[in-house]
Amino acid sequence: MSKLMWSGRFKKQLEDNVNALNASLRFDSRMYAQDIRGSIAHCQMLGKQGIISEEEARSIEQGLISIKEDIDSGALTFNSKAEDIHMFIEEELTARIGEAGKKLHTGRSRNDQVALDQRLYILDRLANIRIQLIDLYRVILEKARENIYTYMPGYTHLQRAQPVTFAHHLSAYLQMIQRDIGRIDDASKRMSVSPLGSGAMAGTTYPLDREYVSDVLGLSGITYNSMDGVSDRDFAIEATSALSILSMHISRFSEEIILWSSQEFKFIEIDDAYSTGSSIMPQKKNPDIAELARGKTGRVYGDLITLLVTMKGLPLTYNKDMQEIQEAVFDALDTIEGILPPFTGMIETMIVNKDAMQKAALGGFTNATDLADYLVRKGIPFRDAHEISGKLVAHCIDRHTTLEALDIVTFQSFSKLIENDIFDAISLETCVGKRTITGAPAPDTVDTELKRLELFL
Ligand code: ARG
Repeated sequence: MSKLMWSGRFKKQLEDNVNALNASLRFDSRMYAQDIRGSIAHCQMLGKQGIISEEEARSIEQGLISIKEDIDSGALTFNSKAEDIHMFIEEELTARIGEAGKKLHTGRSRNDQVALDQRLYILDRLANIRIQLIDLYRVILEKARENIYTYMPGYTHLQRAQPVTFAHHLSAYLQMIQRDIGRIDDASKRMSVSPLGSGAMAGTTYPLDREYVSDVLGLSGITYNSMDGVSDRDFAIEATSALSILSMHISRFSEEIILWSSQEFKFIEIDDAYSTGSSIMPQKKNPDIAELARGKTGRVYGDLITLLVTMKGLPLTYNKDMQEIQEAVFDALDTIEGILPPFTGMIETMIVNKDAMQKAALGGFTNATDLADYLVRKGIPFRDAHEISGKLVAHCIDRHTTLEALDIVTFQSFSKLIENDIFDAISLETCVGKRTITGAPAPDTVDTELKRLELFL
């Protein structure tokens, strides 16, 4: 085995199985671009401060750029015994540029280095997830616009409750996604600080310019306690927590899509390109994308719990346990990034069966509340009105009919105050159209809300 970079005080070589457990290159190599970005900022600052010569700084920078290019192109692979990505790049740098390469780590520790790399990496990935979320948001918004007059039942307890429109239902998900984007922005803002200069845990005696490094990296500031700087992983937990909540929203939406695409509902049909068949039942068309999105939510929650439990008992400052943070947060990022594009495509291409939705809205007595409200307008106290409306519903259930199909004589046998205007009062159009209060499903109100949602973009 090649000589380890910290081997000065060691008399023996590492056992192979110890190296296998200790090494993180297998998973932290994915942060190579961020590691190199951080190292370039650090070496430029070392040169500017006169801690190394300008010439050495340039040579280091060039070496790092060539390493980045070779990893990008595949000319340089991670087929190495290096312990982690930080060691791998430093070893490669020294092999390429010689003595100057050994000066890169001046005034730095892998402890502040890895804390920076992870921040940069998660920031990059969150920025991409944000773009994917905006795509999804646009697609849902478009579907909502097409369905402002598509009546459907709203449910509580998964029992038909009151009529709404499909646009109103979709707008609920747009509200959730707005909050998800807000959480990503909020986490990103807090994450965007440089811990470099924290050293191993007690800072450093070199005259580093910490703000300069942060500026070069495009971050918004620096950390203010060296012990916190190397031991804080809140940013990874916040990111995964935001992703968990987002995942929960996608999962609830998925559950509805699965229900709606069933033969029992038939509210929507998922496009062939976004469904799968059965190896035995020729007639099957399964909503696998929605099921996987729902299923993978458990996995993202698992990642969040891994992070919380890993951190909960750690004394300050850095502990090797923290290496375990990486795979969990990477998995959460990978999982969400993998779900969002197919999920968006599925929503974009699904066919909305407006007739089936409207038919369902007309059944299930979703206008019973409006009937009660009608009686209230005629002067009956709400509690009594509720009772009369309930009796009318029971009457209809016994006769396999609906409220709007009853004749005026029948209505009046339940209350003398009911007049011919009852039919208009309990029609689907009125039940939805009269709900014009902010946040309610009336087409004009939803139209206004969709315009507000559009402004968010
Ligand atoms: N690979 C390590 C990690 O991810 C880098 C930091 C190592 N620090 C140390 N003191 N051994 O945690």
